Amino acid sequence: MMKKYPPISSKIPVMLHGADYNPEQWSEYPDILKEDVRLMKLANCNAMSIGIFSWVKLEPEEGVFTFDWLDKQLDVFAANGIYAFLATPSGARPAWMSAKYPEVLRVGSNRVRNLHGFRHNHCYSSPVYRDKVAIINRELAKRYAHHPAVIGWHISNEFGGECHCELCQSAFRDWLKVKYGTLEAVNHAWWATFWSHTYTAWEQIESPSNHGETQVHGLNLDWKRFVSEKTIDFCKHEIDIVRAYNPEIPITTNMHMTDGIDYRKLAKHLDVISWDAYPEWHYTEDGDDSRLAAWTAMHYDMMRSFQNKPFLLMESTPSLTNWQSVSKLKRPGMHKLSSLQAVAHGADSVQYFQWRKSRGSSEKFHGAIVDHSGHEHTRVFRDVAEVGELLGRLTEIVGCSTTAEVGIVYDWDNRWAVKDAQGIRNSGIRYEETVLQHYRAFWELGIPTDVIGTEDDLSRYKLIIAPMLYLVSEADGARIQQFVEQGGTFVSTYWSGIVNETDLCHLGGFPGPLRKTLGIWSEEAEGLHNRDTNGIVLRSESAWGLTGQYDAHEIAELIHLEGAEALAEYRSDFYAGRPALTRHALGKGKAYYLATRVKDSAFYTELYASITGEIGLQRALDSELPQGVTAQVRTDGANDYVFVQNFSCAEQTVRLDERRYTDLVSGQSVEGSIGLPVNGLAILKR
Ligand code: GLA
Ligand code: ZN
Repeated sequence: MMKKYPPISSKIPVMLHGADYNPEQWSEYPDILKEDVRLMKLANCNAMSIGIFSWVKLEPEEGVFTFDWLDKQLDVFAANGIYAFLATPSGARPAWMSAKYPEVLRVGSNRVRNLHGFRHNHCYSSPVYRDKVAIINRELAKRYAHHPAVIGWHISNEFGGECHCELCQSAFRDWLKVKYGTLEAVNHAWWATFWSHTYTAWEQIESPSNHGETQVHGLNLDWKRFVSEKTIDFCKHEIDIVRAYNPEIPITTNMHMTDGIDYRKLAKHLDVISWDAYPEWHYTEDGDDSRLAAWTAMHYDMMRSFQNKPFLLMESTPSLTNWQSVSKLKRPGMHKLSSLQAVAHGADSVQYFQWRKSRGSSEKFHGAIVDHSGHEHTRVFRDVAEVGELLGRLTEIVGCSTTAEVGIVYDWDNRWAVKDAQGIRNSGIRYEETVLQHYRAFWELGIPTDVIGTEDDLSRYKLIIAPMLYLVSEADGARIQQFVEQGGTFVSTYWSGIVNETDLCHLGGFPGPLRKTLGIWSEEAEGLHNRDTNGIVLRSESAWGLTGQYDAHEIAELIHLEGAEALAEYRSDFYAGRPALTRHALGKGKAYYLATRVKDSAFYTELYASITGEIGLQRALDSELPQGVTAQVRTDGANDYVFVQNFSCAEQTVRLDERRYTDLVSGQSVEGSIGLPVNGLAILKR
């Protein structure tokens, strides 16, 4: 397997550091534009994202193009050793376009067309919008695809949302015709006879709406898939145009925290993955940021896993945001720690939103490298410059990979379906948090983990965890069974194997296509009120010597053993004594089932320490880490780079294993243990 990947751009084979830059907002302030270049160098920035939301400055009137400002800016960059991700401007439209071609405006699920305004609000089906985007992208590509400063295409900005206009409705029906062929097949797949919702003509099918249909789960699921595919198709339309002018320029689009687009599918069309991360650090009462750190890490791991190679941290804030309910500053140390956290998980860049705070409009109080004060003498500027300086010393890590032996399943189809299910716990099924509960154990143990989809290649892994895998097709169930039979270890939980790919319940007993693999039958499942607590009691004789009990809440299943053995049982209620955690030996592998949601994160850490110990999975450091401290590793095959990170809000000492370590920053060799202050970080070469 390849260990070291080429840099994102051969023009600049170092860690990238920079920010979204909008010189077009400052065209009447030439002194500021001049000052920016000096400050960029001082902040150790080498890669800016430019042109995002710049459409009206590029095409002030239909067909009239004004590239002089961008020509000048890119030339200034080139002359100063600064590179650029050049954006296509489709994230926001000029007003002239909305006025002349109302079809470009998005229609809400209430069937009301938006007025002009905001951003990210166009119809992805509109032929006019597609044409207009094609024209501007072509002009940009013609002019800049070979510009020495350009190192990548930044397609649009954070694609998202959905449109319910007539064009989109008819595209949806066409999509369904291709997928199902006949209306009969649609009606069956969606179980439309329920409440007499059977469709007798294609035209009767409408996208879900609160004043129309929301109760046909198969329709809801297909609509989400359609919207996702439509958005990806739009992105591809943009990509095809710019790629034609210089296939050497890598193409990306920045992803962010939305469940609307199946990013795993979008990823297949990109040369490099970009992620925008905005964790709300310091939000807990006791200051312990480890849960949030694990959540953030899980998304970095997902970005790396999409292509199994380094990705870009395209946006993050240098200080605070202006859209979280409370905008808190990063405490000393946190800027460096959180920036390098991305690098630890595979990012070859640390980039920010934004370079300079805008003077007006909605983001004037969003954190930026340069504040309204306009100079470099600020805490934030110094923090950023310091990260830039540090990244400058990490060139040898560029392109290094991470080999994970664990894959944790976090799948869009499942995510959509499980959250749309009515019952068993409408007050909160908490799918994402459930995945995090399991992921977090690996983060605490410092075991590299990939975040994968059910369709990914399972054979790469020794251990696969699929928490709440509610939606499973027969085919994926068979692949999981084969994975276990061939020696893999599989873990799943309550509320798995319930529906198939069109959201029809599996007949014949849950967990449907996973039943044979897990060796259990789940006869009943219930939701528990917030006031209800049950618990699981470990049977020490069968569970790696683990003893004790843990509280369980929210969801519980009453299962029967069908070949599996019980490792733990329920503590109370009428099902006390019944199996709550099981193990099934199948072929050369094993499959575990957790029948109820255990509250305490220590349980998951204990469980996975035992399972991974038994199958011999590698940890980044061969030692016990204090709670809230993680270690992650990147490698070039010969050298390992271990990032030890302290998110625990207390000083910590971390014991190293017997191998030889050098602190990459000081160049000093280290032995025995290292001390980490609050928000402390060490980068060790092994
Ligand atoms: C997103 C957008 C940026 C900016 C930031 C603010 O990530 O892509 O344009 O609005 O949020 O946090
Ligand atoms: Zn539309």
